[in-house]
Amino acid sequence: MTMDYRAMLPIIDTRRRHLEDLRISVTDRCNFRCVYCMPKAVFNSQFHFLPRAELLTFDEITRLTRIFVSLGVRKIRFTGGEPLVRRDLDVLIRQISEIPGVEDLAMTTNGSLLTKEKALALKSAGLRRVTVSLDALDDELFRRMNDVNFPVAKVLNAIESASSAQLDPVKVNMVVKKGLNDDAVIPMAAYFRDTGIILRYIEFMDVGTTNGWRLEDVVPGKEILSRINQQWPLEPVPPTRPGDVATRYRYRDGKGEIGIITSVTHPFCQNCTRARLSPEGLLYTCLFGQSGTDLRSLVRSQKSDQEIVSSIKAIWENRTDHYSEIRSSLTPGLPKIEMSHIGG
Ligand code: GTP
Ligand code: 5AD
Ligand code: SF4
Ligand code: SF4
Repeated sequence: MTMDYRAMLPIIDTRRRHLEDLRISVTDRCNFRCVYCMPKAVFNSQFHFLPRAELLTFDEITRLTRIFVSLGVRKIRFTGGEPLVRRDLDVLIRQISEIPGVEDLAMTTNGSLLTKEKALALKSAGLRRVTVSLDALDDELFRRMNDVNFPVAKVLNAIESASSAQLDPVKVNMVVKKGLNDDAVIPMAAYFRDTGIILRYIEFMDVGTTNGWRLEDVVPGKEILSRINQQWPLEPVPPTRPGDVATRYRYRDGKGEIGIITSVTHPFCQNCTRARLSPEGLLYTCLFGQSGTDLRSLVRSQKSDQEIVSSIKAIWENRTDHYSEIRSSLTPGLPKIEMSHIGG
C-alpha cells in the first residue's frame, strides 16, 4: 500500500506540539571519540555496539519514514554516531529523497569522511544540506578533543567540499565546554565570518550518562554572545520556524550569521516537534529519553502501515516530554540514551 502523505490530519502531543521533524540515527558507531560524547574509557573494544542484524535496513527506514511523513513530518535529518560510516548511505538518501512530502533533507556529520567526491555524491543522491561538527581550529586542541588524533585541516576541507557541492546553507556546530575549548569561541567566529557558513554554538548538555556533565562546565549562551558582540556587534534575526533550536544573530557589518543553542539556560521544549529513530528502530520522543518504543518489531512482524501509523500516533498523542525545562541537580544522573546512539 502507498501512503498518501496528505491524507491524514496533523497529530499533536499533550503540550499541543505537532510532529514535524524526524531525526534518523543510522549507526551507533563513530570513528571519533570526542571527549564529551564517546569517552574512550567507556567506548573501547569492550563496548557492545549494535551488530548489523540489529540495524534497521534501508527499506525498513524508508517504510517508517513514509509513515512518519503521512503523520506530518516534513523535515528529515540523518545522524549517528557518524552517519557516513554506514555503508552505501547514498542509497538510503536517494530512497528518502524520493518520498513525496519530504521538504528538507539534511545530515549532521563530523566531516572526517566528507571528501569532495562524497559531497557531490550525497548531493546527487538528493541530500539538501550538511551540518559539520567542529569544536576548535587549533590542530592540537582539535586532535585532543576528537581523541583519535584527527587533523583539523581535513574537517575544514570537508566544510569547503560541502559548500562547493552546494549542500547549503552549510552549518558548523561547535559544542562549548568551559575550560576545554571556550577559548576557541572568538577564533571560530573570526574564521567563519564572511564565508556564508553558519556557525552555531551549542551549550554543553547532560545527554547520556557517560560524559561527566557538570553545570559548571556550561558556558551560558548569553556569555558566548556577549563575547562575540564585543568584537563584532550583532543583531537578532527572526526565527525561520518556531521549532528551530538555534537563536539566530547576524553581524551588523553584514558579514553573515551565527546561531546559539541554549538547551541548558534557555530551553526550547515548548516548540519541540522532533521525533528520533535509533539505529535499531526505537522511537524516542526526547533527546533525553530513558527508553524508546520498538518500531522494528512492528516492521518485522506482519503489521500493516495502518497499524504502525496507529502506534506512532498513540505515542505522539501521549507525549509529555520537556526535559530541558525540568532539568535540575538530580536529572543529569537519570538513565538516558547516549548522544552517540541517538545523534543529537
Ligand atoms: P537546522 O534544521 O539546520 O536548524 O538543524 P538543527 O538545528 O535541528 O540541527 P542540528 O542537528 O545541527 O542541531 C544542533 C544541535 O542542537 C544538536 O546537535 C543538539 O545538540 C541540539 N538539539 C537539536 N535538537 C534538540 C532538541 O530537541 N533538544 C535539545 N535539548 N537539543 C537539541
Ligand atoms: N552537548 C551538546 N552537544 C553535543 N554534541 C554531542 N554531545 C554533546 C553534548 N554533550 C553535538 C555534537 C554534534 C551534535 C550531534 O551534537 O558535536 O554537533
Ligand atoms: Fe564526536 Fe559526533 Fe562522534 Fe560523538 S558522534 S564522538 S560528537 S563525532
Ligand atoms: Fe525536545 Fe526533549 Fe529537547 Fe525538550 S529536551 S527540546 S522535549 S528533545
